[in-house]
Amino acid sequence: DWTMAHFRTAEVAKIRAQVGKARVISGLSGGVDSAVASVLIHEAIGDQLTCIFVDHGLLRKDEAEEVVRLFRGHYNIPLVHVDARERFLAALAGKSDPEAKRKTIGALFIDVFDEEARKLGGDAAPAQFLAQGTLYPDVIESVSFTGGPSVTIKSHHNVGGLPERMNLKLVEPLRELFKDEVRALGRELGLPEHFVGRHPFPGPGLAIRIPGEITEEKLAILRQADAIYLDEIRKAGLYDQIWQAFAVLLPVRTVGVMGDARTYDFVCALRAVTSTDGMTADYYDFPHSFLGPTATRIINEVRGINRVVYDITSKPPGTIEWE
Ligand code: XMP
Repeated sequence: DWTMAHFRTAEVAKIRAQVGKARVISGLSGGVDSAVASVLIHEAIGDQLTCIFVDHGLLRKDEAEEVVRLFRGHYNIPLVHVDARERFLAALAGKSDPEAKRKTIGALFIDVFDEEARKLGGDAAPAQFLAQGTLYPDVIESVSFTGGPSVTIKSHHNVGGLPERMNLKLVEPLRELFKDEVRALGRELGLPEHFVGRHPFPGPGLAIRIPGEITEEKLAILRQADAIYLDEIRKAGLYDQIWQAFAVLLPVRTVGVMGDARTYDFVCALRAVTSTDGMTADYYDFPHSFLGPTATRIINEVRGINRVVYDITSKPPGTIEWE
């Protein structure tokens, strides 16, 4: 892509000019934005960059492994992989309010990230910059939030306090880009297609796709259902037509029959929307010939789910996530 080749060259020069000989740390989330920003910064300043991947245990099936493989294996970019799964589960125990869950995750993320960043220094100069995969829509959204009648629908910017707390300046090479441009840049930088084309995934991860309290058992159930759903979407060739598709595990048990036995298991809701920026969205109009077999597969293969429903709410009035 001609435009992105130029953007890449120009942005590499800008990053070098901004950062000089200083050290930069970057938090990988498993998503496209932080990965593209990190690869671009690494191209600009090499091993002055260290990436920190905090595994909060709220990612989808195989996602953590994939990030580690991509950065260490494919790009050979220094990466600290922090397994903080138990700390996050412990911190979330007993919390069921959506904003309380987001705040808990955001605050603990900052603590863990800060701890790891301090360990890095050794005798070397501590980092002076923090990389962020902020996109143009994030920039506008935060502006309109402060300018308007200040109704924060959801606290999206989970790690907002990090730069101040750690006294770091920001490097935000994607600030002028929309999501589709970030994907084009990712391709230009050689990120694998299935990674670049991934649907957006929220920072608090599966925690906001399990209304109510999070447990390890629920996370395991949701991961399986979500993986089957996405597998069916990919097999049907629909993945790239959809902005986001995911399963939600409802905190509701219903009665079912399985063979001769009565079951009393969770309900799983499937969500898929089209959108250009996530601000508004339409539900995706799957044919029943897709939904039926997908629901059957989830119920047959996932222990703990005996009923599947499809969400046909658009945004507004609904939001894309359920929390
Ligand atoms: P909603 O649910 O508000 O979602 O319609 C709009 C877009 O934002 C994502 N989202 C989040 N992203 N932290 C994030 O990083 C969050 O707390 C959060 N909540 C929602 C959502 O996945 C969708 O792409």
